[in-house]
Amino acid sequence: MLKVENVSVKYGPFIAVDDASLEVGAGETVGLAGTNGAGKSTLFAAIAGQLPAATGSIRFQGKEIMGQPSYTRAGLGLSRTFQVPREFGKLTVLENLLVAASDPRDENMLTSWFRRGRMHATTQRRTEQADTVLESLGILHVRDLLASQLSGGQKKLLELARVLMQKPSIILLDEPFAGVNPVRIGEMMEIFRTLAAKQGIALLIVEHHLQALQSLCSRLYVMDQGRIIAHGDPSTVLNSKTVQDAYMGGVI
Ligand SMILES: Nc1ncnc2c1ncn2[C@@H]1O[C@H](COP(=O)(O)OP(=O)(O)OP(=O)(O)O)[C@@H](O)[C@H]1O
Ligand SMILES: [Mg+2]
Repeated sequence: MLKVENVSVKYGPFIAVDDASLEVGAGETVGLAGTNGAGKSTLFAAIAGQLPAATGSIRFQGKEIMGQPSYTRAGLGLSRTFQVPREFGKLTVLENLLVAASDPRDENMLTSWFRRGRMHATTQRRTEQADTVLESLGILHVRDLLASQLSGGQKKLLELARVLMQKPSIILLDEPFAGVNPVRIGEMMEIFRTLAAKQGIALLIVEHHLQALQSLCSRLYVMDQGRIIAHGDPSTVLNSKTVQDAYMGGVI
């Protein structure tokens, strides 16, 4: 479903991602681990289209998507969450979801604002979709709160909810458990399992919480200094000498 080949990403002369290759199959849950500054978020940005890759190829469902803007990739079904959630604090949770919905039939949202009849129908359809998404994540009760009033964990779920409004077939999750109360991490893991099992959504998860990755993922990649240094079965990879050496002295 997603095939990344020999991708490099530079910040000026600095090579943050160096010749990285990885793939994720349909409905598969795959992990991406690595020390701080390894290049994980930068690789996500290249895959999702926030940053250009200097080299390589990124294919999604068989099509080359390099060079396409992030909204086109999201429209195709490839979306990401950010390490630091990007909610609109002054909007309610529901409003955050309404602005996130991207339905090809609402090609130009502004057009519908000016056609009141259509706007009403569109808003109603999106509101129903938003309620379903919020309910599936167990946060329907915060629907009418301002996003700024949410807890750290709820903001992470709102971030996920906004992505789900785009009906993705793969989601790149950047540190979904960071800043989340440990008790809530188990609940989030259940949500990810359900998304994969019931909706067939593929997940690529960047995380420092290695136990969670081991439990959720069928395969794991490890990055260090811009390069993918290991990949395979999670416990084999984490116990390998290469990975142990890379983590030695680093922050896991
Ligand atoms: N906008 C930027 N300009 C220049 N260098 C950057 C920029 N963003 C990141 N870097 C550098 O690129 C490298 C990779 O950063 P990146 O954020 O991708 O790492 P990461 O693996 O996501 O780390 P973490 O686990 O801390 O989130 C780091 O050395 C970082 O300092
Ligand atoms: Mg990061």
